[in-house]
Amino acid sequence: MGVLFQVLIFAILSSFLYIIWRILFSCWISPAGVYLKLKKNGFGGPTPNFPLGNHKEIKNISRAAAAAAAASSSSSSSSYITTFSSSETSKISNDIHSSVFPYFSQWQKSHGKTRDLLLLNLLSLRKVFIYWLGTEPFLYIADPEFLRKMSSGVMGKSWGKPQVFKQDREPMFGNGLVMVEGDEWVRHRHVITPAFSPANLKAMSSLMVESTTKMLDKWAALINSGSQEIDVEREITATAGEIIAKTSFGISYENGRKVFEKLRAMQITLFKSNRYVGVPFSKLMCPGKTLEAKKLGKEIDAILLTIVRARKSSNDRCVQKDLLGLLLQENGVDGRLGKMLTTRELVDECKTFFFGGHETTALALSWTLLLLARHPEWQNHLREEIRGVTGDKEIDFTKLAGLKKMGWVMNEVLRLYSPAPNVQRQAREDIQVDDLIIPNGTNMWIDVVAMHHDPKLWGDDVNEFKPERFKDDLYGGCKHKMGFLPFGFGGRMCIGRNLTMMEYKIVLTLVLTRFSFSISPSYSHSPAIVLSLRPSNGLPLIVTPL
Ligand code: HEM
Repeated sequence: MGVLFQVLIFAILSSFLYIIWRILFSCWISPAGVYLKLKKNGFGGPTPNFPLGNHKEIKNISRAAAAAAAASSSSSSSSYITTFSSSETSKISNDIHSSVFPYFSQWQKSHGKTRDLLLLNLLSLRKVFIYWLGTEPFLYIADPEFLRKMSSGVMGKSWGKPQVFKQDREPMFGNGLVMVEGDEWVRHRHVITPAFSPANLKAMSSLMVESTTKMLDKWAALINSGSQEIDVEREITATAGEIIAKTSFGISYENGRKVFEKLRAMQITLFKSNRYVGVPFSKLMCPGKTLEAKKLGKEIDAILLTIVRARKSSNDRCVQKDLLGLLLQENGVDGRLGKMLTTRELVDECKTFFFGGHETTALALSWTLLLLARHPEWQNHLREEIRGVTGDKEIDFTKLAGLKKMGWVMNEVLRLYSPAPNVQRQAREDIQVDDLIIPNGTNMWIDVVAMHHDPKLWGDDVNEFKPERFKDDLYGGCKHKMGFLPFGFGGRMCIGRNLTMMEYKIVLTLVLTRFSFSISPSYSHSPAIVLSLRPSNGLPLIVTPL
């Protein structure tokens, strides 16, 4: 008995010590090792505190920036958060980096430059430094040349996604393509890519026309009943949700709306709460929100699981030409045995398409309507182009490529108000950049907004809406090819970009042929990051039938 008791105590003690060691290793020793190696390379950055890292500073700087913006909006006319009389729309500033990422903007000025790196002459000043989310060090990158050197030798499958975000966003993306890594990523990408081919996308265009026309009929009815002001962001997001539900898994609007509402609630729960990403045990600090997100995640999984199972067991599993039907078809291709996506993986991919696909596209369209409301001459250019391309006929998928000016407008909007404001990576091997080594395990935060608003890359007119900069140049005249990254870079670039382009052109064509827009006096310009870059107070526009 005595011996047994001693063995038991020993086992409990060893397990306890092992758990402490694992916690110390993953929360402190491993990140600190990466940090020291990075530091040895000469990178600077704000001083972290244990266990919050730079969270406190992030909050303080954000709070001060918001207060300054609010004060200047009440006292003066030029600010980021401003309401407008109809003659004041020129006051909307597209210079958004210091308002959406005030801490990065401040740290770029104070920490980006280090003596060693200047000696190495590797970095253009102030664009690469280290900051901490909790106990996780992040290499901040807003220098396209550094990014090019760093990413040139790394294949898509060798990149990781920061572990800390994977856990945080698990209820949304699960193990879908956005998060999966290594050979698994290759397998998923291989099965999914054909679904997004132009031939397959073509079949989805009529669904887009149908949903958009329904939305526009509703607008016409609203205007007829006397209300000319429409929150176009809310409307377009709902329509894009309907479109992605139908194009992803062909579900009825009712079911699509349920998934959509739950996803939306989950996003708010996850990203609007006071969060401490990277802080050990931070989820325990707001258990209610964590449980709520998990519960919503499970409910969404249950709806999608029912859909996937029903489709798998039905005879016409591959007949429906939506993304799920196409994935089931790819799964059935000979020789794919062992490579097929499981039911669980299909559910995660459906979630990924639904979440990654509708909001980004809806935001691209919403920011476009804001900028077109501000630049009515571009509304006219586009209407003229649409007339030239489609004549009086219904919009036709094969003609979309002819809408060149609309393509410039889309690029310029994605540059100024990039719906995906950053790209993340985690090194899964040591990466050499000239004489520097970025160690295995390094988290990276690539600040797309900073690069898209950098006057050194775009010139002094960087914050002006000038779609014509994309007329003769795919990169809009940017001085570096990696300075324009609306869809990310390398092998992990967005898989849905052709779908988005098609949806963007179809929706915008239909909208512009029926209505014109101006900015509502109740609009307040306050772009903010809630995972995506959103107008935080909605986007009310005055909509007038043509
Ligand atoms: C304006 C619209 C969109 C924008 C701005 C956008 C942006 C992005 C960005 C920045 C990435 C990360 C790329 C990287 O890590 O290098 C990405 C990845 C991805 N996007 Fe999109 N996206 C859009 C639309 C869509 C749509 C419509 C879908 C699907 C229906 C989609 C599905 C995905 C998926 C699955 C990935 C992960 C790709 C991988 O890691 O292999 N996106 N997107």
